[in-house]
Amino acid sequence: MAQVAVIGSGLMGSGIAQVAALGAWDVALVDSDPRALERAEASIGASLDKFVAKEKVTAEAAGAARDRIAPTTDLDVAAEADIVVEAVFERLDVKQEVFRRLSEVCGPQAVLATNTSAIPITQIAAAATHPERVVGTHFFSPVPMMALCELVRGMHTSDEALERARSFAESAGKTCVVVNRDVAGFATTRLICAFINEAARLVEDGVISAEDLDTACRLGFGHPMGPLATADLTGIDVIAHATENIYDDTADPKFFPPALLRRLVAAGEIGRKSGKGFFTYE
Ligand code: NAI
Repeated sequence: MAQVAVIGSGLMGSGIAQVAALGAWDVALVDSDPRALERAEASIGASLDKFVAKEKVTAEAAGAARDRIAPTTDLDVAAEADIVVEAVFERLDVKQEVFRRLSEVCGPQAVLATNTSAIPITQIAAAATHPERVVGTHFFSPVPMMALCELVRGMHTSDEALERARSFAESAGKTCVVVNRDVAGFATTRLICAFINEAARLVEDGVISAEDLDTACRLGFGHPMGPLATADLTGIDVIAHATENIYDDTADPKFFPPALLRRLVAAGEIGRKSGKGFFTYE
């Protein structure tokens, strides 16, 4: 049976573990924090129950998926893995330390993937002994619901590593797109940052209200959600941080965070998680 080790059992790691297990992979779910593993088991169980209730997955398949996931705090289990997907905190130093350890632990068969949403793959791969085996697999939240996986080539990523990452993501039910150069923000984070920044500028300049801007995008473009509601859902702090990183890398003024974004962050009005952002939440 093919084995995957998922490192980090937070929001993304637990989702990746779930879809991999449904795709018949044996999953070692690794986290340095045992409480995070307990939370992950509970959230995977609850998510699978919902899929069964909606008749998207049979009770047998859900039960089998649950049995295929082995939570552990011991990273050494990655020695057996055909592919490792890292989903720890979005910090270069933390990710590089994980890739240093994986380089010691993993066999030559292992593809080492990272779920970073913005850090260049080449920078993470610099900590690995074999950077050609390192590839970006950018899944989207919530992983069990979102169909996309953005595959990202680092400077040294081999064709074989990219194709094995694609096979993994496809067997977990995702459709892949390939980003050929690991520019900051890849393709999707660049697009959403540019879109949200322009939307925030139009509102800031009094050209259109936040409500009308989102309505225009939903009804005019057929988007399921407007860019400002998307910013509230993702977290305005997260978007501001992402666009700052892209601006630092490119010096392209369209990525400079608009004053309204910065003011909302300073005021703690960062979206749904704070009850208020561009819109107000009960
Ligand atoms: P999270 O904060 O929910 O989970 C991170 C987990 O990693 C925690 O449980 C933590 O205990 C564990 N961890 C930290 N250092 C570790 C180490 N050295 N060894 C083992 N476990 C360790 O984070 P989340 O939201 O799941 O994000 C994970 C990655 O996915 C980040 O790189 C993030 O940028 C990326 N991502 C996040 C998305 C989102 O919407 N939250 C979307 C796409 C990518």
